[in-house]
Amino acid sequence: MRQVNIGMIGGGTVGSGVFHAWQSNGALMSSRLGVKIHFQKVAVKAFDEPRPYPIPQALMTTDWQSVVNDPAVQVIIELVGGTTIAKTMALAALKLGKPVITANKALLSAHGEELFNAAREYNSNLYYEASVAGGIPIIKTMREAFVGNRFTHIYGIVNGTCNYILTRMKLEGAEFADVLADAQRLGYAEAEPSLDIDGFDSEHKIGILASLAHGFWVNPKDIYVEGIRHISKLDMQFAGQLGYTIKLLGIVKKVANGGASKSRNGARVQVSVYPTLVPNSHVLASVNHVFNAVFVRGDIVGDTLFYGRGAGKDATASAVLSDVADAALDLKHGSKSRVPPFVPHEVAGAVAPIGETISRYYVRFSVADKPGVLATIATILAASKIGISSVIQPEGHEGESIPLILMIHDAPNAAMQKALARIARLPVVKAPPVMIRVENFE
Ligand code: HSE
Repeated sequence: MRQVNIGMIGGGTVGSGVFHAWQSNGALMSSRLGVKIHFQKVAVKAFDEPRPYPIPQALMTTDWQSVVNDPAVQVIIELVGGTTIAKTMALAALKLGKPVITANKALLSAHGEELFNAAREYNSNLYYEASVAGGIPIIKTMREAFVGNRFTHIYGIVNGTCNYILTRMKLEGAEFADVLADAQRLGYAEAEPSLDIDGFDSEHKIGILASLAHGFWVNPKDIYVEGIRHISKLDMQFAGQLGYTIKLLGIVKKVANGGASKSRNGARVQVSVYPTLVPNSHVLASVNHVFNAVFVRGDIVGDTLFYGRGAGKDATASAVLSDVADAALDLKHGSKSRVPPFVPHEVAGAVAPIGETISRYYVRFSVADKPGVLATIATILAASKIGISSVIQPEGHEGESIPLILMIHDAPNAAMQKALARIARLPVVKAPPVMIRVENFE
């Protein structure tokens, strides 16, 4: 049986998870693939760095270049993270014509195009199944299983940390800061949590899915991102009373009527990350704790849903091994670029600015409990052609200011922001309004 030799850079949590998964199931993989997978060398930060599974000392080195340059190593797995040294490592391997497997969404988001070009130039390939939603095989599904579809909508819960925090806020009626602190204590959230809770990790992932779906590489700068820091227990409760659950969603969808810039020929696509009111009747509302889910609507296949663990050593290892299998088969069949890392096919496409996108809204005002306040707010909204679909002014909140919750019909984001800015200036409005978008998945 032909053998393919793997060199791995990174022997920490994910790296040792990959090694362990291969130790457990490598023989099974070989019999399924007809190719023997062999781990030749593993570059680590330090021999004694903490790792959940052991890696034999004889395989380890602290010199990553010796792994990339080893003539026996045919495929490189990069699992070091970050965007600087990881890029150097990936480019070094690609330049030697060695296929690279990475789980690094930040790297792809920042330097994807450069890496794809290098893969093409040096007749190699880049595999990145583990970069989005961990163990969920969404990249392979979109690139291969759904190749015959146009993607009209993608909705992803792609950050386990945020989903864990929002789930606990909902179930326990707890405040964001308290759940975050507890999540950090339990190891579910990083000590420096910004990448996750401010939405950037989701931005990297949804940008990759949007690019695959729409055929132009999405610049992360064009993605509208809001994290979950401003979600309060109060909004979680009111959303619940209205029949909704708040989830951090990555959203990719075509903008109706091509958006404002009609002169463009290509697709205008919304690509965004923001907390969203999801109807409790929708399946995404039931995706809880650290689980991820990606909902994909194709014009041929219709609605599909993928659910699983988006992070963690074992789920990520499963995705990395899937890439190892593809790389091994591609080498065996002498076709390193059978499925190229990215195929541009909609070069005139563009991300629509968030102001052009249309959605429904939940808005919570803190207002003085005086006659005429609701009428004044409704008048400002009506002047912008923004319709109210329901109103809640709960009993039992008497005091300086009371909450007033409006559900708003579909409206363009820019018009909504402008109207809210006018309302915020009213003397009866006591705090900046809270606006959370609502998705009905139509
Ligand atoms: N930190 C991410 C999450 C996993 O919480 O889902 C890595 O992208």
